[in-house]
Amino acid sequence: MATDVTSPAVPVHVAIVMDGNGRWAKQRFLPRLAGHRQGLETLRAVVRWSMARGVRVLTVFAFSSENWKRPVDEVSGLMGLMAKALSREVPELSRSGVRLHFPGDRAALPAAVAQGLAQAERDTAGNDRLVLNVCFNYGGRWDVVQAAARLAQRGEAVTEAGLSAELALAHVPDPDLLIRTGGELRISNFLLWQLAYSELFFSDRLWPAFDEAEFDRALAAYAGRQRRFGLTPEQIQAPSAPAH
Ligand code: IPE
Ligand code: IPE
Ligand code: MG
Repeated sequence: MATDVTSPAVPVHVAIVMDGNGRWAKQRFLPRLAGHRQGLETLRAVVRWSMARGVRVLTVFAFSSENWKRPVDEVSGLMGLMAKALSREVPELSRSGVRLHFPGDRAALPAAVAQGLAQAERDTAGNDRLVLNVCFNYGGRWDVVQAAARLAQRGEAVTEAGLSAELALAHVPDPDLLIRTGGELRISNFLLWQLAYSELFFSDRLWPAFDEAEFDRALAAYAGRQRRFGLTPEQIQAPSAPAH
């Protein structure tokens, strides 16, 4: 069977909006934070499944610019969970070859959390099996604005390539596949620029209940898509003409 070169079977870069923790907890009469804790377990598993299937970059949305508007105890619980996760998870992630990045605005974070993120990035900088971007205090609008501001500060012209190079995910190619769990059909200010041509997969599963079979359904859906990037199907399928 001929392989469609525009749709390699396995996405290089998978991005995930990990949504549904609160509803998962509510269904079980648990506090919302219990849902976030269980969501961390799902993330640990998704890292494993991604590496096993040959995904090279995994980018997850852990805390959005807008999530500060949640009740103060939930916000502080999420900050505490991140601090705990850093100390517990980083050594094991590093041993398995994961390089960590935490795209997002560090300025507003508690100092200990901000320092922990920077330390984890330094500790895993030599790894190259999987890049794991955990977007924390991240917003797609913030990202575009901070990139534009850096260009402006240097007095540089705004070009697509120039702006892309200043975005928080400049170290990786754009996502091939975006998965959103929790049943909502929206982007919620995630990677606005970088998702321009990503394939989208929406799952009704709540994030703590997202499992390997559902992950494989998302990968299978991706493998069946034809990515055209604005071309016609005929252009995609035609063997490339010899250059003149
Ligand atoms: C996603 O789960 C995690 C964060 C936004 C931090 P939610 O907490 O949004 O869960 P639901 O959408 O209320 O179920
Ligand atoms: C998106 O989920 C943010 C994260 C998963 C971190 P939200 O639960 O905040 O999104 P909305 O509010 O339903 O759009
Ligand atoms: Mg939500």
